[in-house]
Amino acid sequence: MNYSWIVVSSLLCSVAYGSNLTFPPGFKFGAASASYQVEGAWNVSDKGESIWDRLVHTKPEAIMDLTNGDVTCDSYHLWERDIEMATELGLHFYRFSLSWPRLMPTGFSNKISEDGQKYYNNLIDGLLDKGIEPLVTIFHWDLPQSLQDLGGWMNPLIVDWFEDYARVVFSLFADRVKTWVSINEPVSICDYVYNTGGMAPPIFEPHVAPYVCTKHVLLAHAKAWRIYDEEFRPMYNGEISLAIPLIWHEALSAEHEELAELLRENIAGRYSHPVYSKEGGWPPSLEKHLEEVGKRKGFNKSVLPPFTKEEIDLIRGTYDYYGMNFYTSRLVRKARPGESIGAWPMNGAPDFDAAFEKDPSWVAGYSSWFYVTPEYFRPQIMWLKEKYGDLKFLITENGISTGPGLDDRMRVEYYRDHLKELLLAIHEDGVNVVGFTAWTLMDNFEWNDGLGSKFGLYEVNFTSPQRTRTPRASAHYYKSIIDTHSIPKTIYEN
Ligand SMILES: *[C@@H]1O[C@H](CO)[C@@H](O)[C@H](O)[C@H]1NC(C)=O
Ligand SMILES: *[C@@H]1O[C@H](CO)[C@@H](O)[C@H](O)[C@H]1NC(C)=O
Ligand SMILES: *[C@@H]1O[C@H](CO)[C@@H](O)[C@H](O)[C@H]1NC(C)=O
Ligand SMILES: *[C@@H]1O[C@H](CO)[C@@H](O)[C@H](O)[C@H]1NC(C)=O
Repeated sequence: MNYSWIVVSSLLCSVAYGSNLTFPPGFKFGAASASYQVEGAWNVSDKGESIWDRLVHTKPEAIMDLTNGDVTCDSYHLWERDIEMATELGLHFYRFSLSWPRLMPTGFSNKISEDGQKYYNNLIDGLLDKGIEPLVTIFHWDLPQSLQDLGGWMNPLIVDWFEDYARVVFSLFADRVKTWVSINEPVSICDYVYNTGGMAPPIFEPHVAPYVCTKHVLLAHAKAWRIYDEEFRPMYNGEISLAIPLIWHEALSAEHEELAELLRENIAGRYSHPVYSKEGGWPPSLEKHLEEVGKRKGFNKSVLPPFTKEEIDLIRGTYDYYGMNFYTSRLVRKARPGESIGAWPMNGAPDFDAAFEKDPSWVAGYSSWFYVTPEYFRPQIMWLKEKYGDLKFLITENGISTGPGLDDRMRVEYYRDHLKELLLAIHEDGVNVVGFTAWTLMDNFEWNDGLGSKFGLYEVNFTSPQRTRTPRASAHYYKSIIDTHSIPKTIYEN
């Protein structure tokens, strides 16, 4: 058989489709990384300290295997090898992030590092020399510690500080960088951080902080988008949006559907509705629920800070595409009386009295939060299309964590299965998806999971001085997808 039949999940109608395994003309493939996870060189030249530098040095036990990002892939020195790998794979684009404290050591725009500029100029020019588009994330979690000392994302002035940073970044690189991600995964910065207290900054405050942070992140993004739109787009004609991570929330059974939908509004809607909906502002159902939560907790008002009319207008429409990260899903049900509920977004949702479960058939990845659920990739994209209209989608991250080893059948099949679902969304549902980004180019420092959790197409030997990078089976498979512009059979199939 050289085609497959896929039975669409019960959310959509139960019809079997013959699938077209060819990507549309012009569809682009890339791979991604992030500064703190790959660069190392945390204290070279005039680089400032980031909140992740501070966490790993003062609370090493926060990292599962006690490793840190001091050296990690050493991409600060080995960036030429990174470009070589992108070339070997035949990538159309390489998504990487800028380290704010490497570029602006004080966190403010009074000082711009020559060394930081040189590093990113080398990387950008080196990629362009090979015909690979640099896709640049302005902020991927490594906030300058100097700004954290002033409250970080809880201080409303972060909006101005981010605006200054974005202007510096555009003035340095926008002549060559045409696709931008303003902020990667607001949910991680705001919800994962303050609901667990385990990431950087290590602050546990699950009642107020996640929601206040959400507002500031959206305002910061909107300011950056407007600067680009007004001052740089006329010259360079590029694009900028957020990268929003989505975990599909599926009702455990029909009686929990309303709750599951409210949780979708919390993870997708809270970060998307203000930007992508016609009316702007918070999703109405979420606004109503979080007002009740505020009263229940004794605040006498919503835990979700209101937007002014000006703020709604500032944020609404600040997008050029929808950047979506997708990894996994959860089954949702109402918590039982007295049941203890884990932290949102991975383990439960205390503000929603919701407990999470996994389907027994779901295969686990290496990370504790990871279950393989390609069947929900397509419903998630359709949910966004139904809510916000016929947007242009760019998949900004997708991938799986495994243990070590070059024969990563699980990753090969993960990409095959997710890309098949993506093609169904394109061909059967008419969704406009323009590109796909594999997370990640090579193994790197996987935040609290340390160096043990491997997401790479390339394996990295973290004990060799050259941090030797070797392609896995998945790298060869991804290359064959790019070369054929379709989904070929894997080496594990006849
Ligand atoms: C499959 O999709 C590709 C890309 O959109 C298109 O060019 C081709 O005509 C389609 N093939 C069939 C059999 O529909
Ligand atoms: C940089 O940090 C490393 C540890 O990662 C340390 O060994 C080295 O002395 C530091 N260098 C400077 C210049 O502070
Ligand atoms: C709480 O809200 C009620 C009703 O809106 C109001 O009467 C009361 O004064 C408020 N209490 C505080 C402490 O703000
Ligand atoms: C990693 O590199 C070290 C040092 O060069 C070497 O001894 C070791 O065999 C390498 N490990 C693997 C799995 O290749």
